[in-house]
Amino acid sequence: MKNNILKINKLKVFPNNNPRLNLVKNISLSLKKGKTTCIVGESGSGKSLTALSIMQLLSSQLNMSGSIVFEGVNLVNLTKEDIRKRRGKDVAMIFQEPMTSLNPVLTIGYQIEEAIKVHNNLLKAELNKRVEELLNIVGIPTDRINSYPDELSGGQRQRVMIAMAISCSPRLLIADEPTTALDVTVQAQILDLLNSLKIKFEMTMLFITHDFGVVEDIADDVVVMYQGEIVEQGTVLKVLKKPMHPYTKALLACVPDPQGKKDLNPIDYSALKKAIG
Ligand SMILES: Nc1ncnc2c1ncn2[C@@H]1O[C@H](COP(=O)(O)OP(=O)(O)O)[C@@H](O)[C@H]1O
Ligand SMILES: [Mg+2]
Repeated sequence: MKNNILKINKLKVFPNNNPRLNLVKNISLSLKKGKTTCIVGESGSGKSLTALSIMQLLSSQLNMSGSIVFEGVNLVNLTKEDIRKRRGKDVAMIFQEPMTSLNPVLTIGYQIEEAIKVHNNLLKAELNKRVEELLNIVGIPTDRINSYPDELSGGQRQRVMIAMAISCSPRLLIADEPTTALDVTVQAQILDLLNSLKIKFEMTMLFITHDFGVVEDIADDVVVMYQGEIVEQGTVLKVLKKPMHPYTKALLACVPDPQGKKDLNPIDYSALKKAIG
């Protein structure tokens, strides 16, 4: 379909030394242009491997099959050099723990500058201007430009990662549990920021989470993953109103009720196993 920016077809991810062990099992999904799609599932369900496959950043012990078509181009067929030319510019990604992606001995201004330089040839003065502009966009005071990552809060560090991710104007932004390590109020601010950037820069967003509460807040479409498979997908309205799969129902039962009327139900895995068969 023309309004799909990305189409994954029959993606499998498996260890090189054990090709029969499918960590991601034959999944197919499409991302609608300009929309936010959430992949939701518990830890170990294959969400990150799916994202890393799109970025062509799987670790060298892993291999994949299937196709990943971005704006009509199958990324799987591209050379490493072609992928490098596109990564960050077409598709960019932010990760759960910014501290592992940021270099502790370099200032945030320098690191944002390096991200811009990957795809842009700017003069020093223009670069500085662009760094300040990006800091403004993500809500970090420009006088923090010479700060080191450990001088910032967790939320600010994630804002730096977001600045780097959008520095080359990607059309698809992948966010892999970007708020999981943050406390609840900061989580909400980062979600708001991502949502407003998505609208402002007309990006498509693939947002990965294990939290259905987040899905309710930001998703247009939902993909539910369970043990490497997609068990359900559709619009957020449909999936939240009428979940079909037992795992989706179990996940939804874990979302806290804002009025606090409902007790939190942990997932009952033995019942779930019986239901799934
Ligand atoms: N390099 C690897 N080698 C072998 N197994 C891996 C590797 N990376 C991830 N896995 C396994 O693949 C499964 C899916 O991982 P992942 O996509 O990171 O899950 P999620 O992001 O949903 O928590 C997990 O069981 C994980 O242990
Ligand atoms: Mg993950």
